[in-house]
Amino acid sequence: MMAAKILIIDDENLFREDLAKLLCRRGYDCKTAVDGNMGLAVAEEFDPDIILCDIVMPDLSGIELLGEILRICPESFVIMITAYGTIDTAIEAFRKGASDYIIKPLILEDVLQKIERLLEHKCLSDEIRFLRRQLHREVECSLLVGQSEQMQKVRELVRKVSTTTSTVLITGASGTGKELVARAIHENSTTTEEPFVAINCAGIPEHLLESELFGHTKGAFTGADNEREGFFELAGNGTILLDEIAEMPQALQSKLLRVVEERKFIRVGAKKSIAVKARFMASTNKNLEELVRSGQFREDLYFRLAVFEIHVPSLKERRDDIALLCEHLLKNLNRKLKRNCHGVDNEAIRMLLSYSWPGNVRELRNVIERAMILATGEFITPAELPSQIAGSVEFPKYSDDLRTAVAAYEKEHIRRVLLAAGGNKEECSRRLGINPSTLYRKMADLGMISNNSS
Ligand SMILES: Nc1ncnc2c1ncn2[C@@H]1O[C@H](COP(=O)(O)OP(=O)(O)OP(=O)(O)O)[C@@H](O)[C@H]1O
Ligand SMILES: [Mg+2]
Repeated sequence: MMAAKILIIDDENLFREDLAKLLCRRGYDCKTAVDGNMGLAVAEEFDPDIILCDIVMPDLSGIELLGEILRICPESFVIMITAYGTIDTAIEAFRKGASDYIIKPLILEDVLQKIERLLEHKCLSDEIRFLRRQLHREVECSLLVGQSEQMQKVRELVRKVSTTTSTVLITGASGTGKELVARAIHENSTTTEEPFVAINCAGIPEHLLESELFGHTKGAFTGADNEREGFFELAGNGTILLDEIAEMPQALQSKLLRVVEERKFIRVGAKKSIAVKARFMASTNKNLEELVRSGQFREDLYFRLAVFEIHVPSLKERRDDIALLCEHLLKNLNRKLKRNCHGVDNEAIRMLLSYSWPGNVRELRNVIERAMILATGEFITPAELPSQIAGSVEFPKYSDDLRTAVAAYEKEHIRRVLLAAGGNKEECSRRLGINPSTLYRKMADLGMISNNSS
């Protein structure tokens, strides 16, 4: 382990150098500075674990210095050195972030003990900080998979906007991961522990949506037997995602506009307004600008929501991510389905890569899940892919050579029948009207399965 680094800032030469010598002898890596300005310069360069800092010095006062030091080295611990007359200042120093103080003349054992204690403490807090960072990184990665340039850009925007409380509009085709982006922003924000509430504006009947959002008083309408909180209250200081915002009825759009503008709302049937503390996000797979132009969506609401827009690209625009997503999905699904599927074989991957993915990542997830259920081996093969994907690969151009052309046709035919038979080779051979052993031999000859079993 590296020696702990200690910086001593004191204008009293003898005291400073003696103490430094003693600490060096005890195995610490020690540096000294004769005044505040030099202290700052050394601190910046040296990044000490612990700083011993005199309170009374000619240029900068120890208190001013303390503030500067903690700004430069926020992770250092500062021990103030005081004389009897400066105890009050020491108390002020504590308030400003000093960790401890020692009184001149020093009792060496006392100093060493304080240093040891702080180092232990620092070790722990470094570890906690490290673990927290790891955790965050993991959350971030496990949430938004993809190394394509487009996904990296999305992640960059997520990182940037999560340090703010700006309203975010997330756009993109269905199944691209819009809700996941919203969650990633929430997970990276400072209010992670607060609720993340997603409301599907398309999934709630129009007459109920308002009371779902705002809550209602007892007897506000028939059926309102009790007072109830709406989603805006449930979200607390967290995040509200208005999913499928384009489907919000016009009347409610005006009410929502007021909430976004004034940051307060009124429960259905109530008079008193309630403040909204949560952050707003909205998502849609529609082109809101177009809806604004055609008068279906309020322009003022659109501007309020689109403060910061993140567009999630379709899967076919970032095919580089398909293999990585498969790996990620397999890992998750292995856990869920209690399987041990190792991957997708080369041919199947080629098919997945050339498919158009109208349902984007959600469709990919469904395809992988279905394939894993069908798969009998350790790898997903073309036989387990649905016909629109397995069939979408271009039929190989027949060669003029008869044998090559027949082989190509045979291969394609077997693949289709195998697919129709749900990947069951016995059933496939029955449908083809040949023996299972003949089918195996053919498949091996055609390079559809490996040869070593025969
Ligand atoms: N980049 C990604 N990494 C990992 N999983 C993803 C990614 N993008 C999407 N998914 C997964 O795909 C599925 C669909 O994602 P999500 O629900 O966020 O999409 P959406 O854009 O909100 O879809 P819709 O428009 O239909 O509401 C989820 O299971 C999600 O976990
Ligand atoms: Mg969604």
